[in-house]
Amino acid sequence: MAFTDYYLVIKASHVGLALLSGGLFACRGVGVLLGARAPMAPLVRRGSQVIDTALLTAALLLLATLELNPFATPWLRTKLGFLLAYIVFGSLALRRAQSRAGKALAFIAALVCFATMVTVARTHEPLGVLRIFQETSLSAPAASRMQSFLQRGVAVPCLRLPRARPGEATVSSSNSTFSPLHLPTHEKTPC
Ligand code: HEM
Repeated sequence: MAFTDYYLVIKASHVGLALLSGGLFACRGVGVLLGARAPMAPLVRRGSQVIDTALLTAALLLLATLELNPFATPWLRTKLGFLLAYIVFGSLALRRAQSRAGKALAFIAALVCFATMVTVARTHEPLGVLRIFQETSLSAPAASRMQSFLQRGVAVPCLRLPRARPGEATVSSSNSTFSPLHLPTHEKTPC
């Protein structure tokens, strides 16, 4: 059996471990803010270390399976950056911050980093979910409807029109161009 045959199992483990790791961190963070001792108990700390090690091992296996270089892949580079920030804020939130307010702020920042990593992973885009502000995804019928609104001079607040990509079908009007739904692509498609 080739390494790539295990891709789905490894990815499912990575996602499951990521959820477990994030869930445990969230519970520990809330516990610390409430003044509980359990979040810092040796057993809980050891459990968290084991989960995080398994999560990163699964990440390395995914990189090997997909033959991806994380430093040459923009969304993975972003994810690594947020991982570092998550570790720093996480350690401030659970232990190092001196005041409760500092711990609370670091806890929120760590959760934001975690959520960003999930959206970056899901979209394969360095901007993650923020991409919707950069590019509006419209189906062709929706694009035509929007086109006729614009031609009738109806203002559409906050709508930033997407740029056409090479090779994409587009619906053009005199003053705008719409691209249909842009799905995130894998740098390498394993199956
Ligand atoms: C707390 C840290 C992390 C979280 C929360 C996380 C989350 C996720 C999630 C939710 C997915 C599934 C994306 C999908 O549905 O397609 C995923 C996939 C993946 N992650 Fe992570 N991840 C983390 C750390 C890492 C690290 C450190 C790396 C390596 C640099 C990494 C590499 C990958 C790769 C290669 C995939 C597979 C993408 C694909 O199959 O299309 N992850 N991650």
